[in-house]
Amino acid sequence: MKMRKKIIMDVDTGSDDAIALALAMSDPQIDLLGICTVNGNLEVALTTDNTLRVVECCQAQERVKVYRGCEYPLVCTLQKGTGQYGIIPRRESEVTERGVHRKNLPLPAPVAKPQEESAVCWMIRTLLESEGDITVVAVGPLTNLAAAMRADGRILAKIREIIVMGGGHERSGLCSAAAEFNVWCDPEAMEIVLQSGCPLTMVPLDATYHAKMGQAEAKTIAAIGTPQAKLVSDLIGQRIEGYKNGYGADSATEGVPVHDALAVCAVLYPQVLQNVKRCNMHVDLGKGYAYGRTVIDTRDCEHSEAANVSFAMGADRELFVNWVMDTLGRKA
Ligand code: RIB
Ligand code: CA
Repeated sequence: MKMRKKIIMDVDTGSDDAIALALAMSDPQIDLLGICTVNGNLEVALTTDNTLRVVECCQAQERVKVYRGCEYPLVCTLQKGTGQYGIIPRRESEVTERGVHRKNLPLPAPVAKPQEESAVCWMIRTLLESEGDITVVAVGPLTNLAAAMRADGRILAKIREIIVMGGGHERSGLCSAAAEFNVWCDPEAMEIVLQSGCPLTMVPLDATYHAKMGQAEAKTIAAIGTPQAKLVSDLIGQRIEGYKNGYGADSATEGVPVHDALAVCAVLYPQVLQNVKRCNMHVDLGKGYAYGRTVIDTRDCEHSEAANVSFAMGADRELFVNWVMDTLGRKA
């Protein structure tokens, strides 16, 4: 059997994070060393609570521990009159009981608590103690990872790869006309990660919208019958309902993206990402309308800065959906 892939997941558990976590804890090829939570879809107390619920749904509480992370972005809520001054950025329109993300996942309240050690401290300690063979899978705002990089630069040489669900080139998120949500929540954090020099793969909206799942997949998954499969099926249904309620009846006719799960699939099957561009990427940190926009340099000219990301513009939906089904134990 091939060596298992060691990963740390950094999540802002809402609905697609939960699907990504259930798959990461279900695929035997993945060695999930621990989960860091962060403010994003919900405040960190709720993203932590939801993460614990998923771990217990997967009966993984003995082997997978949860570490509570940053409550606020690094800087973007500090300065009066700029950015998201004073608020914890999120799409309130989505965080309703009819939205894509809801306060509590449809699971029992967790029994376990998060670990005492903070996410940033645990991430630094785990990376420093490692053989340099850990992939960091970040599917929420990059606050924890950026803070860890600033707190102890020694981890940069210890990170095997970073896979980020975030950003967008031809697509923006629902939080702003220019930016995708995870980057918009903490633009400076994304830029710190970009300037780290670590091997970095971006799984942006351009890719995730090529790997949608719909009611048909939800029904097949529900038939698997395990608690994890029921959770994934229920959450695909919740996302479909949330998109319809928030963005119109036609917004989910071809299914909905399950953004974060595609990043986990890319850990095991990089070929799931298609039309991948090696390019230079920065984040617009100006306080104007494009604040938080990911800017990739697709020019082929001498003025371009060195490439610092692999940026996927597409995805192999069939490979992704088959991986989801097989990992959850699809009946033949
Ligand atoms: O833009 C999609 C991202 O924003 C996903 O990670 C989703 O969970 C939300 O955090
Ligand atoms: Ca997320």
